[in-house]
Formats: sequence, structure tokens, C-alpha cells
Amino acid sequence: MTTQTMKAITATGYGSPEVFQFTEVARPEPKADQILVKVVVSSATTADTMMRTGKPYIGRLFTGISKPKFPIPGTGFAGVVEAVGADVTTFQVGDRVFGESKLGFSANAEFVAIPESGVVLKMPDNMEFTEAASFADGHLTSYHFLHEIAKVSPGQKVLINGASGALGVSAIQLAKYFGAEVTAVCSQKNSGLVKSLGADYVIDYQVNDFTIADKQYDFIYDTIGKSSFKACQSVLTPTGTYLSPVLGFGLLLDMLKSSFGKGQKARFEATGANTSEVLLPMLQDVLEIFREGRLKTVIDRQFPLEKLADAHRYIDTGRKKGNVIIVHA
Ligand SMILES: NC(=O)c1ccc[n+]([C@@H]2O[C@H](COP(=O)([O-])OP(=O)(O)OC[C@H]3O[C@@H](n4cnc5c(N)ncnc54)[C@H](OP(=O)(O)O)[C@@H]3O)[C@@H](O)[C@H]2O)c1
Repeated sequence: MTTQTMKAITATGYGSPEVFQFTEVARPEPKADQILVKVVVSSATTADTMMRTGKPYIGRLFTGISKPKFPIPGTGFAGVVEAVGADVTTFQVGDRVFGESKLGFSANAEFVAIPESGVVLKMPDNMEFTEAASFADGHLTSYHFLHEIAKVSPGQKVLINGASGALGVSAIQLAKYFGAEVTAVCSQKNSGLVKSLGADYVIDYQVNDFTIADKQYDFIYDTIGKSSFKACQSVLTPTGTYLSPVLGFGLLLDMLKSSFGKGQKARFEATGANTSEVLLPMLQDVLEIFREGRLKTVIDRQFPLEKLADAHRYIDTGRKKGNVIIVHA
């Protein structure tokens, strides 16, 4: 039997976007418990750019020490089920699905194989592939931080730093959904965007330092990790929490030190490190908020699959607004 092939991006090692090659590789065969998805749109995220560089080095314990264990990058996907394994019962050929391949990567390719019990759901009829592909980046991560960790409740004050990024644009909408008062920190050029998503107050980081103010917040969600627990302590309530999805030794130390006692806390978590059993119900909850019409996916730029390196170059500028998606031919 001849092996079927597919178009994919593969990384020859860790480094700049030049490590990417657009090439022909063997098409995955779904195992008995897997579905094979023909990818229509995949995502390119800031986290993907970190995986590409292999930095911080500690991440290589999961992604491969000298080169990527899984050479095809990308984790977010939306597409159509092409084939199902013998034991699969919940998906059928032709289903429109979206999800996240976690540390298996491989989404920036024509086809991706995903366990039926993985982070994958059927798409509602009113959902476009373009808005589904990056769902598990900003929406799922910010839901995890604001709902599961912070348990944000009505009337609480939440400040979102990096409000125009992928996690930030989701966080504004989710914090509003949970009934919070939202202050968004972004540059002047993105203030219209964050207001349109529901931010009550906007701070232009190029003019004002949000850590120097009289106001105090129950939660500071620093999506881009440009501030610190120490810098934010005077603008947190006495029992307030500094949350950041950006891994750093200082944050881990603050988290450990603040874990004792009842005062202010610092929190980091890697959402994708949770099991599919934990992530799937969260993704279902976020999808329900989308179905209610309370959550939009903000898309900045789209690139064809063969131009993934250009997508990464753009993300590397640090200027993207919301999400970058990869539209497959
Ligand atoms: N822990 C986890 O589970 C997890 C999951 C997913 C992602 N992440 C991490 O989360 C981080 C955020 O990713 P992202 O995609 O949301 O961010 P992003 O889109 O890469 O952030 C870019 C945005 O940040 C804004 N920005 C830059 N400097 C700023 C500053 N000093 N103050 C306020 N805004 C500023 C930029 O706006 P301007 O152009 O106006 O400056 C731009 O819109 C990444 O490090 C990613 O790896 C972690």
C-alpha cells in the first residue's frame, strides 16, 4: 500500500521563522481512538513562537531538548472530520470540529489526528472556521484564569494588562460576562477596540503607569507579563491577586511566597498542561458563552499555510491585535 502524503510546515530545529519549511510529509493515519481532521483554518499564537524558539529553555523538557519532538507546529485547529478510527463513537466523517492538539502540536498541516477524548468539539452551525481555530488560545486560557482560578464575580474590579492581545481581547469580554468592572491597559491605537469589547475604563500604557494610582483592583490579569506582582501590590486590594500566563522564575517565587497566609496572591498556570478531562468541560463552557453571542474572536491578520513563517514574523513584532490565523487552501 502506498503511503498517503499531505502538505505541512515542518521545523528543522529551534530558532527564527527560517526554521520552517513548507513540505510534503506522510499523512497521519487515525488510530482506533482517533479522528482525522482535514484542517480548514489553524492558529499561529505567541505561545507557538516561543515553542519555535525553544525558549525559555525549561519548555524543551516537554517539546524536545535539541529539536522539536513534533516537527509540525501549531496547536489550534478547525476543520472537517475526514476519517474516524474503529472505536470512535461521538464523531462522524463530515462533522465540523475545532480544538487544540496540546503538546502533540501538528495543526499547521493539511490533516491532524486527534484522540476522540481530546480537546475537540463539534462546531455550532453559526460558527465560522476562522473564529474557531484560535478558540483554545485566548478564550480558553482567559476563561481558565478568570473563571477557574480567580472565580471573578459580579462587581469585582479587574484590570487587564495587554488588553489588545489574544488573551486580552478574550479577557475583557469574559470579565464583563462575569459581571466585573473592567479596566483595559493598551496603547491609544487600540483603545477603540477594547472599548468596543466592553472595557469600562482604558489606560494608555504609553502615557500612564497603571501601577501608580489610587484605585485598587481585586484582580490584575497581566496577559503579557510585562509588569510584576511586586509592582502591582499597591494597586491590588489587600486580598487581591496578580495573575499572569507568562512563565518566569520571579513569578514562580512570588507564587510560592504568597501562597502562605490570607493576603495578596500571585498566580501562574500553564492552561495547556491540564488534562483533556479538565480542559474539555472548560471549552464547552466557553462555547456556551459564544453561543449566547457574548464572545467574539478578534482576528488581526490571516496568512496561507505556506506563509506560516511570515505569520510568526508578524507575531514576533509584539504588535498583533487579538489573533493571527492560518487559512489552509
Ligand atoms: N500560561 C498559559 O497557559 C498561556 C496560554 C496561552 C498564551 N500564553 C502566553 O500569554 C502571553 C500573551 O499572549 P497574547 O497572544 O495574548 O499576547 P500578544 O497578542 O502577543 O500581545 C501583543 C499585544 O500586547 C500589546 N502590548 C505590548 N506591550 C504592551 C505594554 N507594555 N502594555 C500593554 N500592552 C502591550 C500590544 O499592543 P501595542 O501594539 O499597542 O503595544 C499587542 O496588541 C504570551 O507570552 C503567551 O505565550 C500563556
